Amino acid sequence: MTNPLLLIGSGNRDKAAELRHLLVGLPWEVMSLADYPPAEEPEEDQDTFEGNALLKARYYGSSFGVACVADDSGLEVDALGGAPGIHSARYAGPGCSYDDNNRKLLGALAAVSDDQRIARFVCCAAFIGLDGTEHVERGTIKGRIAASARGANGFGYDPLFIPDGMSLTFGELDPDSKHSVSHRGRAFRQLRRYLESLVAHGYAS
Ligand code: IMP
Repeated sequence: MTNPLLLIGSGNRDKAAELRHLLVGLPWEVMSLADYPPAEEPEEDQDTFEGNALLKARYYGSSFGVACVADDSGLEVDALGGAPGIHSARYAGPGCSYDDNNRKLLGALAAVSDDQRIARFVCCAAFIGLDGTEHVERGTIKGRIAASARGANGFGYDPLFIPDGMSLTFGELDPDSKHSVSHRGRAFRQLRRYLESLVAHGYAS
């Protein structure tokens, strides 16, 4: 019997690559949006990471008639009242680049001392099955914002984020070291365990 299909519902190639890595070995054939006809991105109009992750999983799952996983993630900075939060992707405005966002964040924290530059990455990972089964997991990692960008690995705010207990930024870590502690690694390892338990109980789609 062939494995059922599981679509990674993310138009962000960097994230989709991380998710594929985190789902290796599950008894599903993992597909990406590149395997399907182009689809418009849904409007992320929920005000929580959980809500937006579920919205994306429902949207792409129902668009293509397959089981789907999707995530919503972002960076919360305490000194900025939790910003950029769910607006992390477009913090510096529509069409902005990762560099634009990083410059804006460094500017917003210019007067904030080292010990007050506390931040956390959050990731909510959602699954929707063909039968309507829905499940969401949340993963977080606490750290602080560096004084300047360091490292070329990863994506987004990685060059600015120093996880607690380390001196390197995510941008300076190799991908496996990042995944072993990251918000996305945590959320998807929890989601994997959930999916494995579904399969162990006879779930088949
Ligand atoms: P989403 O696609 O709506 O979940 O937007 C997530 C945004 O949050 C990304 O575009 C990045 O700006 C930021 N982000 C989320 N996870 C990470 C990460 O692991 N490293 C760096 N930036 C991240």
